[in-house]
Amino acid sequence: MSHGAKLRRMLNDDIASIMEIEQRAYPHPWTQGIFEDCLRVGYACWVLEREINNQKTIIGYMVLSIAVDEMHILNLCIDPKIQGQGIGRALLLDAQNYGKKNNAAMCFLEVRPSNKAAVNLYLSEGFNEVGFRKNYYRDDNGKREDAIVMAKDLLFS
Ligand SMILES: CC(C)(COP(=O)(O)OP(=O)(O)OC[C@H]1O[C@@H](n2cnc3c(N)ncnc32)[C@H](O)[C@@H]1OP(=O)(O)O)[C@@H](O)C(=O)NCCC(=O)NCCS
Repeated sequence: MSHGAKLRRMLNDDIASIMEIEQRAYPHPWTQGIFEDCLRVGYACWVLEREINNQKTIIGYMVLSIAVDEMHILNLCIDPKIQGQGIGRALLLDAQNYGKKNNAAMCFLEVRPSNKAAVNLYLSEGFNEVGFRKNYYRDDNGKREDAIVMAKDLLFS
């Protein structure tokens, strides 16, 4: 990771700062309990940290799970204050490199069709739509939104 930022493993003590970003970044944020569970079960949880005003500050994070030869990106987020500067793409590259190092052949993720920034990012990084999950997400009106399932071959990329 460049952009003056360092990637390191997420700790339980990071969750408060992460929740502060998560709640600004997503219309339907994860709860603190979900992050705690991800750490407990041993998912690959990473934070992106940058020195701001002499203080190490979390500016992004991602949660990855690898089972056999498949990696799933469960969360990938950049602080809205610094989105649009290429950092999300760099973090996604780090995710793919982590998958390759750990023998993942394919990378999967789910994304809301309404999340244009994320869909564009994944498409431009070579992910393809491979399916959808009906009524996967809740939306603001108590209705449900489908998820697009996207995948990328990590072996031949
Ligand atoms: C999706 C997200 C990670 C992108 O991070 P980012 O640092 O803002 O993205 P980057 O600056 O690296 O941009 C990479 C590409 O994403 C797409 N993109 C980013 N912002 C966009 C926007 N506002 N509208 C449309 N496309 C956008 C573009 O394809 C862009 O490439 P380009 O700059 O060559 O056009 C970030 O918007 C985010 O954290 N969103 C909230 C959390 C989230 O939705 N995560 C994904 C869950 S599946």
